[in-house]
Amino acid sequence: MKRPELGVTLTKLHCWELTQFSKCVFMDADTMVLSNIDELFEREELSAAPDPGWPDCFNSGVFVYRPSIETYNQLLQFATEKGSFDGADQGLLNTFFSSWATTDMSKHLPFIYNLSSTSVYSYLPAFKAFGANTKVVHFLGSTKPWNYTYDSRTKSIKGNVDDPKIVHPEFLNMWWDTYTVNVLPLLEQHGIVQEATTGGNMAEVTEAVSHISVSAPSPVLPTISSEERKERWEQGQADYMGVDSFDNIKKKLDTYLQ
Ligand code: GLC
Ligand code: MN
Repeated sequence: MKRPELGVTLTKLHCWELTQFSKCVFMDADTMVLSNIDELFEREELSAAPDPGWPDCFNSGVFVYRPSIETYNQLLQFATEKGSFDGADQGLLNTFFSSWATTDMSKHLPFIYNLSSTSVYSYLPAFKAFGANTKVVHFLGSTKPWNYTYDSRTKSIKGNVDDPKIVHPEFLNMWWDTYTVNVLPLLEQHGIVQEATTGGNMAEVTEAVSHISVSAPSPVLPTISSEERKERWEQGQADYMGVDSFDNIKKKLDTYLQ
């Protein structure tokens, strides 16, 4: 897929270690929840929605599972022996939970629990018919919402009109609206990002906001700049054994959650 940055998604396997919980719903950081989805906890491991690119595989951006050290160890051993056909977590998990496609329909989550944002234009009639029921949107692909520039004055994404994501920007705009209204003020309040601007016109505010979002919070502290560190991550060169170790990431998440 020419996306070496996806290798870092194997850290996802650590979720099986969260044995203080009996059942969990894993969600990628590029998903956006639109309504309450507590009912997912009524499902069993491993429940997930089909991948839009290969519907006999599940998409690993949203799934229900049971933390278990036994499963965790099996997954690691499996990864070591067999690797992953897509170089990342989804290939590995689909080979490990290989009966998903054929065995138990109750483990097939409806697509509205992991609706690929590209489905808006790849199957527009279905989106028009069923899109209003969407519960979780997943911004899969290499360009994420935070890679776009947002104009908070017009409440819209700026971009090339040939880009289908710009032709159907409803979810992207929703992500940005939620980010600027509900998330950014909290990040500022906790000093994670600096105030966007003081005074000035809206265009400046917008630039500042979109800039901040791009260089947003990076866990723990590096001797390299956060921009350089982000570039390395995106090239698949995270410092797994050092500052980017799972322990450090977990510490940072725990701090936020507290
Ligand atoms: C797909 C999934 C994502 C996963 C990646 C790599 O993009 O949506 O969750 O990390 O594949 O397997
Ligand atoms: Mn994703």
